[in-house]
Amino acid sequence: MSISAKDHWQERGKAWTATAVQGISADDTFNQMIIAEAGIQAGEKILDLASGTGNPAVSIAHSMKGDGDVICADLTQLMLKTARQRAEKLSLGIMSFTAADMAALPFEDGQFDAITCRFGIMFPEDKVAVAREAKRVLKPGGRVAYIVWGAYKENPPFHVSRRAVAKYLGTDEGPIPGRHSLSASGTLREILQEAGLENVEERELRYKNRVDDIDDYVTRNLNRSFVEETKDMTDAAFVLLKAAVIEAWLPFNEDGVLQVPNYARLGIGWKTY
Ligand SMILES: C[S@@+](CC[C@H](N)C(=O)[O-])C[C@H]1O[C@@H](n2cnc3c(N)ncnc32)[C@H](O)[C@@H]1O
Repeated sequence: MSISAKDHWQERGKAWTATAVQGISADDTFNQMIIAEAGIQAGEKILDLASGTGNPAVSIAHSMKGDGDVICADLTQLMLKTARQRAEKLSLGIMSFTAADMAALPFEDGQFDAITCRFGIMFPEDKVAVAREAKRVLKPGGRVAYIVWGAYKENPPFHVSRRAVAKYLGTDEGPIPGRHSLSASGTLREILQEAGLENVEERELRYKNRVDDIDDYVTRNLNRSFVEETKDMTDAAFVLLKAAVIEAWLPFNEDGVLQVPNYARLGIGWKTY
């Protein structure tokens, strides 16, 4: 039986909540990239869609230094609870939190200077309708910026551990996950243009994440993304699996430090009238 998107994310939210970093993200790079690309300024009213545990909403609010409004929206309350805790820890009084489906936003027309969405638009069925809905709630002159994952094979954080876990358990790696469904060049551009946004641009975002504590990195990764595979494991079996996954990351060591390549694509469009 298929479950609803809300139930799916509510279930995933348990692992996300358990592994979420409090305060600013340990790796804030994509958040800073979307802030810069969307040209977010203090004093603006920003809506962050599919914010999950608060990315990039928390970083946006932090960058505004108390001047502005940041509405953090997600399908599930559980994810938002963690986002709220992060905001409280950083005393980000300009943040508010709303459960909202990005396909049917509970806001009146023309409210926001900018809308951001990091790794969310791949999931709703009708992406053009979602972008049209974002355009509806933008002020004239406002802009929307979406980040989606680039190709699976160019994103080691998704395939290195997955392959290693499958190999260790003797299972199949499985199909390319849906999170990469908008990774082909031009796909985001077409969605935004079809939704009636203007001055649309699409570009690559790449960087390497320096990981100083590979043990902690792999532990978090296994606890967040391999809940089913690990939930009935003994501690001893978990340690062995972790060792196998750590070994799979060794080719990404540069001068003795793990450097993890990340690749996303950014689409940005304007409501000019
Ligand atoms: C991969 S997570 C990304 C979370 C966060 N933006 C980040 O980058 O860490 C995807 C998020 O999209 C949310 N989501 C999925 N479908 C949604 C929809 N139709 N409307 C709003 N949020 C949705 C999920 O609840 C989940 O928190």
